[in-house]
Amino acid sequence: MNERKIKIGIFGLNRGMANAKAIKLCGGDIIAVCDKNDERRRAFKERIEPKCTVFDDFDSLIKCGIEAVYIANYFPEHAPYAIKALEKGIHVISECTSNGTMAEGVALMRAAEKSSAIYMLGENYPYMLFNLEMQRIYQEGSLGKILFGEGEYNHASPSTDPNAVRSLYDSEMHWRNYLPATYYLTHSLAPLMCATHSVPKRVCALPVFSPKEGEDIITASRNGDALAIMTVLNDDGSVFRITGHSTFGYSENSYRLACKKGQIENVRGTDGKVMLSYNSWHTPSGAKESDLYYPHENEVDAPLAAQTGHFGSDYYMFKDFFDCIRTNRKPYLDAFVATTMASVGILGHRSLLKLGEPMDIPDLRLEQERKKYENDTLSPFYAYEGKMSPSVQVCSKDDFCPSDDKVQRFKKAISKN
Ligand SMILES: NC(=O)c1ccc[n+]([C@@H]2O[C@H](COP(=O)([O-])OP(=O)(O)OC[C@H]3O[C@@H](n4cnc5c(N)ncnc54)[C@H](O)[C@@H]3O)[C@@H](O)[C@H]2O)c1
Repeated sequence: MNERKIKIGIFGLNRGMANAKAIKLCGGDIIAVCDKNDERRRAFKERIEPKCTVFDDFDSLIKCGIEAVYIANYFPEHAPYAIKALEKGIHVISECTSNGTMAEGVALMRAAEKSSAIYMLGENYPYMLFNLEMQRIYQEGSLGKILFGEGEYNHASPSTDPNAVRSLYDSEMHWRNYLPATYYLTHSLAPLMCATHSVPKRVCALPVFSPKEGEDIITASRNGDALAIMTVLNDDGSVFRITGHSTFGYSENSYRLACKKGQIENVRGTDGKVMLSYNSWHTPSGAKESDLYYPHENEVDAPLAAQTGHFGSDYYMFKDFFDCIRTNRKPYLDAFVATTMASVGILGHRSLLKLGEPMDIPDLRLEQERKKYENDTLSPFYAYEGKMSPSVQVCSKDDFCPSDDKVQRFKKAISKN
């Protein structure tokens, strides 16, 4: 790697630690990290980067000479930190979701617009090989216009191992216990948007209530909805059917772009193959009517990507971010795309609570649309060290909550003693 190294800091050392390798392989120089958790700071220095400076507060991190920051703190708390960095001209790659409230989405859009720095949503699923191939084929044009897209992120976990639970939660009020089914949707929606550039305008969401069951399950989740099915109407007239974070059937991610002349999808159970199919009368000359194949990966990137998580997508995501910085290019996953997806999650939840009532998705590039939401701080989460408490119910059933026994078992599992 001969390109200029990018001096980067990492904020949040759970996911942040897992992505250090991808950052380094792509030419990132991790000069500082920040986490309030002593053990994680120590582990980072010992295992990953002995020379980096460690901080326990974000303000020190962004004053120490970094040109970019990877924001990987709690799920609903990314926006204020992204804004602080953008105000200092520091490039931001922010984990999903970009903003936990509509008001934060407005503030983030305003800050990104004013800043000279690049904002990119660190959403890795569009960088999976099959999704990159679906983007390439769609954008090359032979399938014609998108009519219908499907995106499923389906990730179940047994939650019976106390160590695994401890690695994901640091308190009963942790965001994972208060996560509604629609909020974590970028893994489903972003691959479809990255391919088609369709922009959501309206969402309807329906819940499937099915709480985790079993004596040995360790959970204090306030959400009993196993999934939400969201139907999204886009600016180009197409419709997407997506999930948020969901647990049903068998864990996998699947995507389909159904277009005027044919379709492309990643095929379940084929370990990453895509199926490209045209109607016979639309098949381009020299192409097969139906082709099931592994996407090509170039020999320079393949061995590097193979060392990183999420089927190599973590590598391709940072490669793109650093390339944007080096060439001063705006990423597709910019603040507008990121906050639009967050709006689908937040307003999709309001739709879900009203069993599918349609909600319009604002265009946060427009000041008059921003005005409607600039004070909308409704949130299902505890956040900002207790400064924010839930103001919206988490689950489709308003009386759902874990039993006292479950909460005690959960607290025992996450305590160190
Ligand atoms: N794209 C993916 O595939 C993927 C995978 C996992 C997680 N994520 C996302 O990454 C983000 C982080 O996930 P996670 O699993 O690491 O979350 P986590 O809650 O387990 O860890 C967050 C870390 O941030 C630290 N932190 C939080 N607030 C802080 C503050 N104010 N000051 C200092 N440190 C602070 C915590 O101590 C903790 O170590 C989330 O948004 C999540 O959605 C994405």
